[in-house]
Amino acid sequence: MMAGVVRCVLQRFPMSSRKRIIVPCTGVLLPQHLTHARTNSSASDVPGVKERTLVAIKPDGVQRRLIGHIIKRFEQRGFRLVGLKMVQVSKELLDQHYVAHCKKPFYPSILQYMTSGPVVAMVWEGHNVIKSTRMLVGNTNPAEAAPGTLRGDFSIHVSRNVVHASDSPEVAQKEISLWFQHSELIDWVCCDHGNIYGQ
Ligand code: PPS
Repeated sequence: MMAGVVRCVLQRFPMSSRKRIIVPCTGVLLPQHLTHARTNSSASDVPGVKERTLVAIKPDGVQRRLIGHIIKRFEQRGFRLVGLKMVQVSKELLDQHYVAHCKKPFYPSILQYMTSGPVVAMVWEGHNVIKSTRMLVGNTNPAEAAPGTLRGDFSIHVSRNVVHASDSPEVAQKEISLWFQHSELIDWVCCDHGNIYGQ
């Protein structure tokens, strides 16, 4: 009887995902025993789930010991961290990263600021991660950043606004390849995928 129930439930899953179902010693399969099977077998079924963005904790964020606070916000949200490193950024990299701003009067102060200490560069992945990250980070000018956003909570002036985040898919792609080698990004299986995306 019990074996029949188990067989009947297993038939709802493709062979490839059954190896992930752990049958409890009681022989009774409950929904929580099946979540992991669904999770890993359909990780790529959610549209846009592989979208990636570059987030950099600027030297003021590192100096003020905000690294943990900032990473926590992305983890809590449910995004997947696929790249992480601390770097002393070169002028050459910044010239490429801020190519749209290098003629602006404030560019020398950006260079001075961004090379004043280490930066923590990260690549976060998930559905709508670029837009969600911009919301999470808040307005570039901290005076206009809503409370609850990283800039709204941790900064006052645009010259020390703690975090950088890519602002479009094209820019994200460019910035990720500028800051990270392909081999530095890890495509790991997130075991709570089903609880984040419902599939
Ligand atoms: S603009 O002119 O509206 O395009 O510039 P803006 O988008 O506001 O800012 C572009 C980036 O320059 C940074 N910024 C500064 N850094 C240091 N000092 C000063 N005074 C300053 N003013 C602007 C701003 O934070 C943006 O960088 P990211 O890394 O995207 O936050």
